[in-house]
Amino acid sequence: MDLHVPAAAGGAAGHVELRSDTFTLPTEPMLAAAVAAPLGDDVYGEDPTVARLEELAAALLGKDAACLVPSGTMANLTALLAQCPRGSKAIVGRESDIYVYEAGGASMCGGIVYEPLPNLPDGTIGLAGIEEALAVDRTDPQFALPALVSLETPQNRCGGLPLSLGYLAEVAALTRRYGVALHLDGARLFNAATALGVAPAEIARHADTVQICLSKGLCAPIGSVLAGDRATIAAARRMRKLLGGGMRQAGVIAACGIVALTEMTGRLAEDHENAARLARGLAGLPGVRLDPGPPLTNMVFFRIQDERYTTRSFIEAAGRLGVRVEELGHGRIRAVTHAGVPAEAVDRAVEVFGELLKPGGPGKLPLDTPEETAPDTPGEISAGTAGEIPAVTPGGSR
Ligand SMILES: Cc1ncc(COP(=O)(O)O)c(C=O)c1O
Repeated sequence: MDLHVPAAAGGAAGHVELRSDTFTLPTEPMLAAAVAAPLGDDVYGEDPTVARLEELAAALLGKDAACLVPSGTMANLTALLAQCPRGSKAIVGRESDIYVYEAGGASMCGGIVYEPLPNLPDGTIGLAGIEEALAVDRTDPQFALPALVSLETPQNRCGGLPLSLGYLAEVAALTRRYGVALHLDGARLFNAATALGVAPAEIARHADTVQICLSKGLCAPIGSVLAGDRATIAAARRMRKLLGGGMRQAGVIAACGIVALTEMTGRLAEDHENAARLARGLAGLPGVRLDPGPPLTNMVFFRIQDERYTTRSFIEAAGRLGVRVEELGHGRIRAVTHAGVPAEAVDRAVEVFGELLKPGGPGKLPLDTPEETAPDTPGEISAGTAGEIPAVTPGGSR
């Protein structure tokens, strides 16, 4: 099936864009659907296209209701604000997007305390740790009371690994026992479902609320959906308005989202195959170590162990040769496959990495300038050329 995916999704033709699946561009059917969509004022609840998208998303996720929001960040934030009273605590993974990349929104806007627990290499949070965080003495006025546990699947900073259904069921049993909510950041939930070979609702059923992003591997330009029971979604709509996320003729966005959910989920397997292809290519190169290992979804994480390069100088050297990757925490490089990266582009990326790493290859010279060889430090600002790789890498981007 021709999905009319723009060939150069992500930027100027010619480069291989592996920094994120957020660089995907809307497909032709999305743009056509946006033009043709019946519209209304969604703050009045009168945009029929938004209503269709919300019904579709709720049905796919097996939930009663859903709410379109502009971003994954806002979907997560509305979920926390709707379910956590001021002064309560939300238990989150230390490597989670909510904790690392969302500007502390729940504390800032909701007076909610994050309790970050370590993520294990497989993306899970240890059950014993979750239980310890939940088992506070509710009669003791000293403690912030737990209100919610948040999990992320696939867990981005743990290699894009999907959480198993068994693990989700165990955490759900714990949250039920302690009377708190379970939120799932499923920014790439359809990738997790593809990797596990299950319907999305099989994953979502364990959570009280789940957010999905339309604008990552599914190629929509904007938008996320939060799904849950009717009362929670009604509360989330209030929070969405409070945050400025009430949108008027949002059917323009929703129309793209409908195409994302109906036409684009089936092709994610191709991205996963391409990630595996990339990982195989990388594994055959000197000075590359996959970390954590072969990918299960569309993300390949690896380290460069070659004294000619720092992580940053390698990224910049690859960028200059037309292959864009980014550091994503703990000195690892992340490469994300998506609709704008066909198999030939993956092969091109492996070729470029191989060129940079070959014995007697370019190394520091002539590609690197002295300032690029500075040690990797969190938040470092490295030299870059305008129009090439963005220069600021505060411990990675998404
Ligand atoms: C796991 C995860 N959750 C949430 C988000 C936030 O989504 P957005 O960029 O739409 O705010 C991202 C963004 O990349 C993500 O990777």
